[in-house]
Amino acid sequence: MIGGEHDTRVPLWRQIQLTSRVIQRVRKGASGTAVLELIDDDLRPGVQALAFEVWRNLGRAEAIRTVITKRLPAQDVDSILCIALALIWRGDSLFYDEFTLVNQAVEAAKRTPEAKKQANFLNACLRRFIRERPQLVERTSGDPVAYWNHPRWWIERVKKEHPLVWKDILLGANRQPPMTLRVNQRRNTVTQYSVALQHANVPFSVGAQQEIYLDVGRPVRLIPGFKDGYVSVQDAAAQLAAPLLLDGFPTSSGLRILDACAAPGGKTGHLLERADCHVTALELDERRAKRITENLERLGLCAVVSIGDVCRHHDWWDGQLFDAVLLDAPCTASGIVRRHPDIRWLRRESDIGSLALLQQKMLQVLWPMLRRGGRLLYCTCSIFRAEGAGQVETFLAHHSDARLLDSPGHLVSRNTPESELVLDNPTCDFDGFYYALLHKE
Ligand SMILES: C[S@@+](CC[C@H](N)C(=O)[O-])C[C@H]1O[C@@H](n2cnc3c(N)ncnc32)[C@H](O)[C@@H]1O
Repeated sequence: MIGGEHDTRVPLWRQIQLTSRVIQRVRKGASGTAVLELIDDDLRPGVQALAFEVWRNLGRAEAIRTVITKRLPAQDVDSILCIALALIWRGDSLFYDEFTLVNQAVEAAKRTPEAKKQANFLNACLRRFIRERPQLVERTSGDPVAYWNHPRWWIERVKKEHPLVWKDILLGANRQPPMTLRVNQRRNTVTQYSVALQHANVPFSVGAQQEIYLDVGRPVRLIPGFKDGYVSVQDAAAQLAAPLLLDGFPTSSGLRILDACAAPGGKTGHLLERADCHVTALELDERRAKRITENLERLGLCAVVSIGDVCRHHDWWDGQLFDAVLLDAPCTASGIVRRHPDIRWLRRESDIGSLALLQQKMLQVLWPMLRRGGRLLYCTCSIFRAEGAGQVETFLAHHSDARLLDSPGHLVSRNTPESELVLDNPTCDFDGFYYALLHKE
């Protein structure tokens, strides 16, 4: 457990100190989500807010640090320095005024055994930054990593693959995502739930697909009706999966559906809310599979939850064909960087190729399990073409019995009206996603 304190009025220096540990662990390759889960419940919201803001500004912070230090400081000092720079470089910190931040960053260093000898150095660096801000910002703006706050390879790839909207994508990844809800239509309608939100004085708007955007995000325990399964939290792009797979299906009752890669069960629940179907929810990770069951119980729904590896189908498949398959494949998660801002710093470009190979293998294994006339919906929360359009083009080239039905393709988050594929739906604020609906001839 990181932390160990239960003081709700946690001093800022302590939050910076914990954030520094989180940042260092992620620099060594750990996932931000996993590391933040180790923080005490009382401390997590504050530390997470700081860490998210740091990851959204880390490219700039590291570039400024390189200019103002002669050589790379020791890791504890460096992470506190980069945290402070990330939070103050714009001069309009969301959190605290910059002198408080500098003061508390220095305090965090003084109270960290590995950094305390360098507290004066840290103070000098940060004061110099404040004095020379315009020059230092100008000097680092020519560096794309500093300017866009993404790794260089990522910027190049997005530019090449989405030439019309690459700036939108990179800027969108640095914005706070909306909190989006899906109404459980088995328990209530969007109109009924809207009335409940009004009664609870929760400001919201309803999107084009009946998704609900809360004006201000809040913990799930404070969302009206969440505990009793009236709604789920799910991004608007993820809410497209169930209607894409089910709408227009010749027989929509009693379908046998495989939800491969199902945890935590967001899309499983949506399928069951929309149709009377038999869903097998398959998941490799036992701990994550428990969350499918919990989520379905909350929603009052039921599926067969199976623990297994898609690629080792002899372990879990009974040989009966499915009417429909949803493959929400493991991917780089490059489309949900706004929700997980650490991801861009964790991924390596080589991850794309290895994940694309796994996705290809999964498609090959699952296709024979689908009956003729059935449908497979392939999706990833990635904006990279190798995990989306490229993957499906290769699949279609090798499977003459597969036909691509009308599919959204790559979705990117909307930031300007010009954004691709969401022109007809300007109220949507999507995560980056890819969808292809395949029909088996
Ligand atoms: C993108 S997430 C799925 C999200 C889920 N469909 C939802 O809407 O809530 C991918 C999931 O695939 C699981 N997974 C990864 N490799 C797998 C494999 N070989 N077989 C089965 N599941 C796998 C991961 O543990 C992860 O839970």
